[in-house]
Amino acid sequence: MSRIVIVSNRTPGKGPAAGGLAVALRKVLGEREGFWFGWSGKLAEAPPPEARIEHIDGLSIAQIDLTRDDHHAYYAGFSNSILWPSFHLRLDLATIEGHWYEGYRSVNRQFARSLLPLLRPDDIVWVHDYHLIPLAAELRHLGARNRIGFYLHIPFPTADALYAIPHHEELMRDLSRYDLIGMQAKRDVAAFTEFAEHQMPSTFGGHRSRIIDFSRTEVDAFPIGSDPDAFARLAVSPAGTKMINRMKRSLGDQRLILGVDRLDYSKGLPQRVEAYEKLLANNARLRRSVHLLQVAPPSRDGIKEYQETSDALDAICGRVMGHFAEPDWQPLTYVKRAYGQPSLAGLYRLARVGLVTPLRDGMNLVAHEYVGAQNPDDPGVLVLSRFAGAAEIFPEALLVNPFDTDETAEALRLALDMPLEERKQRWQALMQAARRHNVDDWAMGFLDRLAPGANARTSTTRDILYLASVA
Ligand code: G6P
Repeated sequence: MSRIVIVSNRTPGKGPAAGGLAVALRKVLGEREGFWFGWSGKLAEAPPPEARIEHIDGLSIAQIDLTRDDHHAYYAGFSNSILWPSFHLRLDLATIEGHWYEGYRSVNRQFARSLLPLLRPDDIVWVHDYHLIPLAAELRHLGARNRIGFYLHIPFPTADALYAIPHHEELMRDLSRYDLIGMQAKRDVAAFTEFAEHQMPSTFGGHRSRIIDFSRTEVDAFPIGSDPDAFARLAVSPAGTKMINRMKRSLGDQRLILGVDRLDYSKGLPQRVEAYEKLLANNARLRRSVHLLQVAPPSRDGIKEYQETSDALDAICGRVMGHFAEPDWQPLTYVKRAYGQPSLAGLYRLARVGLVTPLRDGMNLVAHEYVGAQNPDDPGVLVLSRFAGAAEIFPEALLVNPFDTDETAEALRLALDMPLEERKQRWQALMQAARRHNVDDWAMGFLDRLAPGANARTSTTRDILYLASVA
């Protein structure tokens, strides 16, 4: 059986794998031969000529260092100040410095050069996320003929947002060098197809045109999931129970509304707190009987827009505290720190409401984990943004427009007042969906489609020829 090679910007570290994705992919590498390839997390004077291979907890990991300048242009620059905001439709927060593309391209080239000598001809290569869009093209340029798949963990942008990205034609052409492209949601596949089709008439006029041929690239939605039953077990594990007891002591009779997100502007955190503020303003009876806990571990804090999001959140949390707190009651707690999965599972189980309201999100695994951790006899209610990929999986959640804070406030009220029978019915449907979309099946489903001979095409892009102007 072919080996599996997983490539991502970050590689798993020592100790228990933190995220569901890392757990699932570790499992794949436990069952099939193969290795993981990525950045070492280290900055060096000059990039090392060869990857270092380490064996960590039974996993083979090959890593390369990057120079400070390359890393800056590739990670903070092109990936997270151009691609991330554009793909999340936040062009207002993008910093378009086209020269970062050089560093982005150069790092992808370094990945390809260091990975190529480790590859066997029949290895299957699975590349993850927006940092590495050009990797297949770079590998193919060096002669690799392997089956190569790409999975985009974030949403695919609308055509207009894509046009704003410097070198977007090259990036689209890079995507055509993959055998299989996986997206989180049908919405993303539709946006990709729309972009590809939209290009054709508009690029003819007066320009020389070159065809990007997607006929060998299959594109489909592979919605990622979690391991909901593992979360159910974690929630009642000793560490989960410890967190539950700790919180119960401080909450008393108050019902908990919980948010857990990286501190990222795509997560809609200020809007969320504003919705909570409206809930308290409109429903005086709920004061003293509810508490919002927002867990928000800092992320990419070297980037100005992330610092500003953090400041905005500080300001609105302060405003709500100043308005509603009393000497013996605080309406909310805001924690800028990461917690381990068992503690989070305990928090999820205790929370009467899981508040998951990103402005735009690839999938959002917090929604899956929250569902997994509920007590079947007394489950909480998921309030979910309709702009998260998870909304396609979980129609039984209370779906909200996160920009409309009145609507979110009303959904919170409904969730808090929801009778037990309805909570159970909704949760049972959600849990079924979470199980159906578990992360193990996601990984196997993608790899089965990527396997040689599995390219009986069902793709929406099968016959798309994308014409890009090269004038
Ligand atoms: C998102 C991306 C991942 C990324 C993660 C954490 O989930 O899709 O690729 O690893 O955020 O972001 P960071 O910049 O810290 O790796």
